[in-house]
This record gives sequence, C-alpha cells and structure tokens, in this order.
Amino acid sequence: MQQDHIEGKIIDGRLGQFHRDVHALTYDPDRLERAYDKHAENYDEFLLDLAGDGTSGCSHYTTLFFSRHVPKHKGLRILDAGVGTGIGGVELINLGYNPLSIIGVDLSSKMLAQAEKRGIYEALHHACFPETNEILQPDEFDAVLCAGGFSHAAMPDSAMPEFVRVTRPGGFVVFSVRKSVYDKSDSAITAMIKRLEENRSWKIVAQECGDYLPADGVQAVYFACQVL
Ligand SMILES: C[S@@+](CC[C@H](N)C(=O)[O-])C[C@H]1O[C@@H](n2cnc3c(N)ncnc32)[C@H](O)[C@@H]1O
Repeated sequence: MQQDHIEGKIIDGRLGQFHRDVHALTYDPDRLERAYDKHAENYDEFLLDLAGDGTSGCSHYTTLFFSRHVPKHKGLRILDAGVGTGIGGVELINLGYNPLSIIGVDLSSKMLAQAEKRGIYEALHHACFPETNEILQPDEFDAVLCAGGFSHAAMPDSAMPEFVRVTRPGGFVVFSVRKSVYDKSDSAITAMIKRLEENRSWKIVAQECGDYLPADGVQAVYFACQVL
C-alpha cells in the first residue's frame, strides 16, 4: 500500500516516490529491503538532489562529524552500519582515513552490490541489525559509523546496543538521527541513546544539530559516543 509522505518538502516526482517507498510509520525490515533494492541504482543521484549543496547530504555531514571525533590512527577498523551504496567509505577516504579498514553491513543486497563496485570495503555483509551476532565479533571495531540509518521506522533502536557490543572499550559509535525522529516525545531511539548513557555503556562526547538534507529542509542530530 502507498505510504503517505512523512517528511521533507520534496513530495513530487522520483524523489517524492523515493520518500514514500523508504519511509513508513511502522518498522518492517522486509518492506525496507524491497524499497532500498528498488532504488539502489539511483540512490546516489537522489541523495545529491536531496542535499542540493553539492554534497552527499547525510553521508557527508555524518562522516564530517565522525572525522572531528574519531582519531585517524593507522590500522583503524571501522564498521559502516547501513552502508548503503558505500558513499560513507568514499567520504572517509576523502577526509584522510586512508588506508581504510572498513566493513559494511546492509539489509539490501542491491545497495550492497553498488557498494561492492567501489572496491574499498574489506568485506560487505547482507544482514539486518541487531541480528548480526554471528557475523560481527565482540570488541571487533575501533569505531562504528551509522550515517542516515536512524530515520522514520528504519534502523531500530536495538541496533545501538549491538554497535556497543562490537566496539572495543574506548572506541566510538558515531551516528545521525533525523531531528524529527529524535524530537518525537515517544522516540525509542532517543530513549535508547539516554539509556546507554545511564547504564554506562557509552558516554556521549558530542551532540550537535545540523544540516542533513538541506534542499529537502531536513536536519539531524549528530552523536559521537565513546564506549565504556
Ligand atoms: C539512508 S540509507 C544510508 C546509506 C549510507 N549509510 C549513506 O550514508 O548513504 C540507510 C541504509 O540503511 C540500511 N538499513 C536500514 N535498516 C537496517 C538494518 N536494520 N540493518 C541493516 N541495514 C539497514 C538501508 O538498507 C539503507 O541502505
């Protein structure tokens, strides 16, 4: 069934259709997989249009924020959670994380196929957070990047403890949350961010609101959390 348009001022044409396909009111990973599979070939182009400022929008702003908080150690091992077409990896290389040891995970095989073409990921896994226990080892990563994942009925809040599990103590989990999702009074994502700080799983070292998809009028709250 066609979903109503949920957020953003671009509601017509191919971008409007992209919105309606990927955004929903209730979480359903099968629906999400079908939506991203459908748009994988045009995703990069859509992102450029939604950003409208010559950047890749959410990928650009989240990786830029990441680079301000995660030191560029040699041999740094990064998990790109909800890797999509792999724009995050390209952005990290451009920001000086080179050579890069980066693993990508996504629930859409067609998005992963686009990421594979870039030839910069050490491994790409077709899996759905938080069900990544058999693929990812405890304390395996120095940092987790999740750019654009926490949106309307998208990456679930239960992905966050999984990010903590796979990050070594002292490592970082860096992610964006759509501002409208963060601001909702009953937001499970916002509650989980707080709970993980209260139970000393992580310490929030930076939190900032800023541009996300400027042409579409969408902002995000960016978080850098250090795993304790
Ligand atoms: C908005 S896109 C962002 C892609 C990429 N990080 C970027 O910056 O361009 C969100 C991605 O997260 C993936 N995703 C959403 N929920 C997921 C989950 N529970 N597990 C794995 N991937 C997920 C989607 O398939 C999609 O490729």
